[in-house]
Amino acid sequence: MKKYLVTGCAGFIGSTLTDRLLSEGASVIGIDIFRDYYDVSIKRHNTASALKNPSFTLIEKDLSADLEFLSEFIDRSDELVIYHLAAQAGVRKSWGTDFRIYTRDNIDATQNLLEWAHSRGGVKNFVYASSSSIYGIPVDLPMTEDHTVPAPHSPYGVTKLAAENLVRLYTANMGLPSASLRFFTVYGPRQRPDMAFNRFIRAASDGKPIGVFGNGKQTRDFTYIDDIVNGLRLAENSIRGLAMNLGGGNRVTLLHAIETLSNVMGRKIEIEFSESKLGDVPDTWASAELALTEMGWKPSVSLEEGLSREITWLMS
Ligand SMILES: NC(=O)c1ccc[n+]([C@@H]2O[C@H](COP(=O)([O-])OP(=O)(O)OC[C@H]3O[C@@H](n4cnc5c(N)ncnc54)[C@H](O)[C@@H]3O)[C@@H](O)[C@H]2O)c1
Repeated sequence: MKKYLVTGCAGFIGSTLTDRLLSEGASVIGIDIFRDYYDVSIKRHNTASALKNPSFTLIEKDLSADLEFLSEFIDRSDELVIYHLAAQAGVRKSWGTDFRIYTRDNIDATQNLLEWAHSRGGVKNFVYASSSSIYGIPVDLPMTEDHTVPAPHSPYGVTKLAAENLVRLYTANMGLPSASLRFFTVYGPRQRPDMAFNRFIRAASDGKPIGVFGNGKQTRDFTYIDDIVNGLRLAENSIRGLAMNLGGGNRVTLLHAIETLSNVMGRKIEIEFSESKLGDVPDTWASAELALTEMGWKPSVSLEEGLSREITWLMS
């Protein structure tokens, strides 16, 4: 039987992927330890509809610990696709003593899962959720996989790059099929509450000024969640160990994004500027050519449309 293992299945992207797989009739095993980086009740809510589906099994375990328990849920004969999305997210928290949380959940947990996948065998693909933050501050834009030298600008980025390199090593040395997808600022329904659009929409709807770190001229290549999930699904068949950008083609300044938000919400938004934070990068912009040629991936949701869907979700 074919099974999908989704790690981080209670999070923003993992829960949306899980719902998509279940809607396709797949059998899904989800793992999440429900870390309290943000309100755990949001994660409970994210998994609520999947839990009503008999094809879904939720395992509340830590991926950085012994993974023997997985053999209870996955038979040796099962064909397995692993979507590894579990991680400690967030650039700003990754400085200082909290770094050890990042090494545990982003590096140790990934190595542990890779080792389990390799020793089990029968893995059709290991798809890893990497990040644009592995690039740091690039000399040239857009960022391309073969020309932009990875030089993370935050401890978070260092751990995401380390894990991506571990995936590459298991493919090169052990023949584990894999794909790494470098997501660029993902937004839409279920977006994490610490992320900019989620914070902005809540503040604006309460009539409060929104807080912007820096002068607002920094650019981001915003990528809508459904485009990311489409990329994850296409990556199931990309088994050559490539690392590919998934960037939404919506590269704008933060000020432009706020203006779009103001138009979509039909209200004036006041901005409160403060110093930019350690680890923030001035620009991100993906070349998505490789994902197009390798998997036929193309983002399709405009910033206006995606923001309007995120607003509808948050307001409900
Ligand atoms: N959201 C974005 O814009 C973005 C951009 C680039 C990359 N990514 C990557 O995509 C993935 C998903 O991000 P997200 O925004 O959905 O984050 P999220 O925090 O909503 O989800 C991650 C989930 O992983 C779980 N988790 C963490 N450590 C674990 C462990 N040791 N064992 C089991 N579960 C564990 C957490 O409880 C959480 O529910 C992450 O790998 C992140 O680095 C996200």
